Amino acid sequence: TVSAPSRAPRTVTVTGAAGNIGYALLFRIAAGGMLGPDTPVRLRLLEIPAALRAAEGTAMELADAAFPLLADVEVTDDPAVAFDGVQHAMLVGARPRTKGMERGDLLEANGGIFGPQGRAINDHAADDVRVVVVGNPANTNALIAAAHAPDVPAERFTALTRLDHNRAVAQLAARAGVAVTDVAGVTIWGNHSATQFPDLTHARVRVDGGWRPALEVVDPAWAAEEFVPRVAKRGAEIIEVRGASSAASAASAAVDHMRDWTLGTDAGADGTGTDAAQPGAGTDAGPRWTSAAVVSDGSYEVPEGLISSFPVTSDGGAAWRIVPGLAPDESLLPGTGGRLAATVAELEAERDAVRGLGLL
Ligand code: NAD
Ligand code: LMR
Repeated sequence: TVSAPSRAPRTVTVTGAAGNIGYALLFRIAAGGMLGPDTPVRLRLLEIPAALRAAEGTAMELADAAFPLLADVEVTDDPAVAFDGVQHAMLVGARPRTKGMERGDLLEANGGIFGPQGRAINDHAADDVRVVVVGNPANTNALIAAAHAPDVPAERFTALTRLDHNRAVAQLAARAGVAVTDVAGVTIWGNHSATQFPDLTHARVRVDGGWRPALEVVDPAWAAEEFVPRVAKRGAEIIEVRGASSAASAASAAVDHMRDWTLGTDAGADGTGTDAAQPGAGTDAGPRWTSAAVVSDGSYEVPEGLISSFPVTSDGGAAWRIVPGLAPDESLLPGTGGRLAATVAELEAERDAVRGLGLL
């Protein structure tokens, strides 16, 4: 027999619901992959008028899947309706870049979306709202949204760098010849852009049952010269090879981000394991964390208020916690000195640019 879901439904809003990421994301959420197998979800799908009909088609498919956890679906083009009572806001709706563009080229085109949505979240969201911005340029869009929501603590606005984190885990595991569950301690620093710093200087790899520093297992020259640019430019590589911006992997990372934030980075027991709480992770793995772009408290010399990627953990509370004591060790990864400062400088330049456009 199937037991009835035991908890009150949670309200999840997905913007850009008719888009490519939305199509992959909604079904994962409705299946319980984000909030767990006991938590029913109420979905709110926000789209622009031109894409409403397509979003309604997706809602029809959600109904057709007969998900036991799906309590309700509503499709709207009104942010006030979409964010009414929202507890988990997934801000995906924005234009993706195409071949030859950098994510920063989308600042003006997409920045205008996030002010009104931030205001609608401010006015209509539940007190425990958690927001993840996926639409690019994600960090700066999150900054814009937060600035328009003065009544919501800034720590509730985050941007997705979990995709970069997962890419880094996968690349390191492949190089070391181990499973992704045998990798820990990777950090993505800074912007979700080609300037990001995928840092292996505190990473560990499990070899023959024991955890070892990653840079003793893989060649530091490979890490500096191949791994860092590979991860930082993976979005462009996917666009080149796939002919379209990453979608299912981005949706999967957004699920990972919201799940770990809400349930905690130690909550891997239900089989939805995370990098921070791998099923079967040994106690000798040392401290574990994941990466997310969160508002800086001045840690690691990132100016307070910028939304930048850090090593983070969550205990399931309202805010991610930045893990201290993990400054990149340049002596281990030659040639990467200044990379953290450079990605932070890019975030400051993006902030100044959107200020200049009147978006902040
Ligand atoms: P897509 O073009 O397939 O879908 C975007 C959808 O957003 C469209 O249906 C569009 O109608 C909708 N939209 C546009 N403006 C909107 C608004 N104001 N309100 C609600 N909906 C709106 O694009 P996609 O492939 O789903 O990508 C979406 C965004 O996510 C892009 O900006 C892309 O670059 C970004 N992205 C981010 C990451 C990340 O890791 N942070 C990864 C992949 C993609
Ligand atoms: C990605 O990292 O795949 C996305 O941000 C899409 C892009 O433009 O790179």
